[in-house]
Amino acid sequence: MSRKSRVSMAVIRRLPKYHRYLNELLNRDIKRISSKELSEIIGFTASQIRQDLNNFGGFGQQGYGYNVEELYNEIGKILGLDRGYNTIIIGAGNLGQALANYSNFEKFGFRCKAMFDVNPKLIGLKIRDIEIKDMDTLEEFLSETQIDIGIICTNKESAQLIADRLTSCGVTAIWNFAPVDLKVPDDVIVENVHLIESLLTLTYLYKEREEEES
Ligand code: NAI
Repeated sequence: MSRKSRVSMAVIRRLPKYHRYLNELLNRDIKRISSKELSEIIGFTASQIRQDLNNFGGFGQQGYGYNVEELYNEIGKILGLDRGYNTIIIGAGNLGQALANYSNFEKFGFRCKAMFDVNPKLIGLKIRDIEIKDMDTLEEFLSETQIDIGIICTNKESAQLIADRLTSCGVTAIWNFAPVDLKVPDDVIVENVHLIESLLTLTYLYKEREEEES
């Protein structure tokens, strides 16, 4: 079982959206925004936004709205982005390589220190400057390098054993792409990413629209 947050998951899941939209506003050089304007852009009600932010002390002033840069920075801090994170990717196949190639992660402070695989054809190769190492050297690497987040991109059959190896070496956060529910110690956080769930939500809505139109 993973640890529970003090703030509801629904609020936590909305925070990255605030962060993304505020970043867009900053890029457009917008300095201040009313809660009404922010709600129109983001698509949540103004009261929802106020309630969400009140979980963290509240921001903005009556009659002024929000200072975009301040709110962006505060939400970044709330999301833990005021520090960097060392990551490793386990499984250097299609998905692992795609993630390693995505340089935008670095802008948020995520540094991929290495990739690991069992395939001898991949071991020793580099994706950008990230080396694919032999899975047999995982424990040795983790004893020498502080890693905050392990990213699992292997087949589902291997994923649990990999999670066990990561957690027994002190990795306490796992970003899991393998289609399996991992069992981890209480103090370990797992965030699953399943693109298929998002796609199936889309097909549900697609089908519902067709039914309504017919
Ligand atoms: P892939 O077959 O291209 O890559 C998997 C890699 O894992 C291979 O290079 C393989 O040698 C390596 N591997 C296997 N066992 C290992 C072990 N014990 N230790 C280290 N490396 C090991 O597969 P692909 O397309 O990259 O998919 C990877 C995983 O991600 C699969 O489980 C797939 O179902 C999942 N996936 C999940 C998505 C999502 O939305 N969550 C989207 C796409 C794929």
